Amino acid sequence: MRNLKRVWTLFLSLALALSLSIPAYAAVEDTGFSDVAADAWYAEFVVYCRDNGLMAGTSTTTFSPDTTTTRAMMATMLWRYSGSPSANAGSDFADESSIASWASAAVDWARINGYMGGVGANRFQPQGQASRAQLATILTRYHQDAQGTVTPEPEPEGGEMLVAYFSATGNTENIAQHIQTILDADLYEIVPEDPYTSEDLNYSNGDCRANQEQNDPNARPAISGSVENMEDYDVIFLGYPIWWGQAPKIMHTFLESYDFDGVTIVPFCTSGSSGIGSSAANLQSLAPNANWLSGQRFSGSASQETVASWVEGLDLPEAVTDFGNTQTQLRLTFDGGEAIIALEDNATTRDFLTMLPATLTFEDYAGAEKISYLPQDLSTADAPASYDPQVGDVTLYEPWGNLAIFYGDAGSSSGLVPMGRVISGLELLSEMNGEFEVSVTVME
Ligand SMILES: Cc1cc2nc3c(=O)[nH]c(=O)nc-3n(C[C@H](O)[C@H](O)[C@H](O)COP(=O)(O)O)c2cc1C
Repeated sequence: MRNLKRVWTLFLSLALALSLSIPAYAAVEDTGFSDVAADAWYAEFVVYCRDNGLMAGTSTTTFSPDTTTTRAMMATMLWRYSGSPSANAGSDFADESSIASWASAAVDWARINGYMGGVGANRFQPQGQASRAQLATILTRYHQDAQGTVTPEPEPEGGEMLVAYFSATGNTENIAQHIQTILDADLYEIVPEDPYTSEDLNYSNGDCRANQEQNDPNARPAISGSVENMEDYDVIFLGYPIWWGQAPKIMHTFLESYDFDGVTIVPFCTSGSSGIGSSAANLQSLAPNANWLSGQRFSGSASQETVASWVEGLDLPEAVTDFGNTQTQLRLTFDGGEAIIALEDNATTRDFLTMLPATLTFEDYAGAEKISYLPQDLSTADAPASYDPQVGDVTLYEPWGNLAIFYGDAGSSSGLVPMGRVISGLELLSEMNGEFEVSVTVME
């Protein structure tokens, strides 16, 4: 299986089986094929297969993504060139009896390893036609597994969100992490080059460092490190603690370090009791061409639900978030409370919606996920080759056919299909023990 020569032989065999031409291409910035749009769901797999010599175009300019072979044949080709490994029989497909004996071991193997799954209602459809676009997806998974690599995340090209915060004692960090979880944003901590000691923060001592800085209009405490790709961010949540009614001077250093023209900035702060007051308005002159939204003060222990209801009400640019009336939301009701999921729009979630309303049984997995085995397979037509789940992500794990809601860290995995994000109630869900029933409904 880890023998790349085999993969090459596999390619030659598949090329023959599908009447493909031998690769002859040059590296190009777009897909290089006139019939594969750069934003097609399979574009990255086509490019991967081409760049790794796994599949070629049907001409120098076309890939013919819709030309087909049968799914049983495809599973068998992959399996045979992996050395015909035995596979512990997985659970049967509903149409197991229509899988020819020559293909059945291959289908088991392909399913267990996550290379191929069902096509809905737990059917494999061995005579179903697989397009070359699907073949490219499967070959990518296969080749990456053989090499022990995964597709790198595409570089951000704008439309991204950043939560940048300074926190001397952890309160503002708590809120920043909630926002990151809710919006799947990037997180950046503004770290002082010279960290604040508790003596520095002892504001009852009029001479403490924090007080001196707040009283000095020219104070600009240095920041350790920087945000390398600031130009990728369209929205920046800017978090700080209130110091004597204002933002700490290190926030001035931060705002003067970058160009925020046209960027939407959303201030938030924590304090002992003061409101946000004039602190956010006083920061605006440091980035006058940014689009400043009105800010919000939280207590340091504010829950994710509290933060989520604020985030949902924000008027963020559409390019960066799907929040709003158009995004389908699900309500999960269970003994410990309620959670809300904002659903992505893809083939998997569209299939899932046809199952709802439903009562699902969840259980814990590895102290990081709440999982539920679904009564039927969901389409994975839009699935990426692999996915790196973040806390709050709702996914389908295709090889086992289960929903997986992540509340802890887990690594990147093939077979994971992103479905949406928990925007409130994740803590309540994560605190549930053993098996528990969850009623899932679509919110009006
Ligand atoms: C120098 C200093 C001045 C402060 N001034 C105020 C204030 O004016 N009003 C207030 O409610 N809290 C004030 N606090 C309390 C902090 O705003 C509060 O503890 C905040 O949540 C700390 O956030 P952090 O843990 O992210 O640093 C002050 C704290 C310090 C260290």
